[in-house]
Amino acid sequence: MPRDIIIDTDPGQDDAVAILLALASPEELNVLGVTAVAGNVPLPLTQRNARIICELAGHTHVPVFAGCDRPLSRRLVTAEHVHGKTGLDGPQLPDPTMALQDQHAVDFIIETLRERPSGTVTLCPLGPLTNIATAFQRAPDIIARVQDIVLMGGAYFEVGNITPAAEFNIYVDPHAAENVFRSGAPITVMPLDLTHKALTTAGRVASFRAMGTHVGTMVAEWTDFFERFDKEKYGSEGAPLHDPCVIAYLIRPDLFTGRFINVEVETTSELTMGMTVADWWGVTNRPANATFMGHVDAAGFFALLTERIARL
Ligand code: BDR
Ligand code: CA
Repeated sequence: MPRDIIIDTDPGQDDAVAILLALASPEELNVLGVTAVAGNVPLPLTQRNARIICELAGHTHVPVFAGCDRPLSRRLVTAEHVHGKTGLDGPQLPDPTMALQDQHAVDFIIETLRERPSGTVTLCPLGPLTNIATAFQRAPDIIARVQDIVLMGGAYFEVGNITPAAEFNIYVDPHAAENVFRSGAPITVMPLDLTHKALTTAGRVASFRAMGTHVGTMVAEWTDFFERFDKEKYGSEGAPLHDPCVIAYLIRPDLFTGRFINVEVETTSELTMGMTVADWWGVTNRPANATFMGHVDAAGFFALLTERIARL
């Protein structure tokens, strides 16, 4: 039986690859809906991009919802310098024709968790946690019904990418992240420590292009665009493909290892705002609240990604 998931996202080229990976994996995953949030770019673009991606995959039956257009209490910080003006810069794709759902993403998340059997729906946040935290605030009864929250966000050894101390998704809405990490729901985290071990290389990008499919070409071109920023910044051969790690974990958890530890989010210091303070070494008595991943078998991850993307 495939696992029921909701993908909460701010696409973003790496979000796009994550969504494609999920849609290409129906034996393992059933995408109940895609919920957009403001993050890499403002909400009108992230919800549009989410529809473009579903359409590219030929999955126009997957409902796409627009959610929160700003963080809980801070002003929205975006990342056009990484993802381009549209959030999906690189190759041009036509405007989506599939409709945006009328229902608000937060209402969809609440309704789905209440209607489906308890413990059967996994949330996959790939952007700031605003939609998830808002759903938990409005309907605390749903927290105990969540099977797992597998999210991309945070960092410990790699520290920050948007500030010296913080990873982008957590930094954009640290208050939402704090609420989610303190909610008591099961959480699995894919931090920068892990995603920086899943680097694209010329050969890995070439294998997307070599598929000779429209989707394979798009993934190669998106990756080329998205890479340039991190390659320059880190001086590395490739760039981390962050968000697909979430979906790959759901398909092949054996490729990942981590530790069940305490993770707290900084929300008071402007200097370290959004830092994920992860007790990797177990030096406090704070109770464990998240499985914080540290290692991925990169070759296995890219083999899976290539095999699945080729199906679309
Ligand atoms: C995260 O930030 C976004 O720019 C990416 O899509 C990813 O979710 C990495 O810090
Ligand atoms: Ca993202």
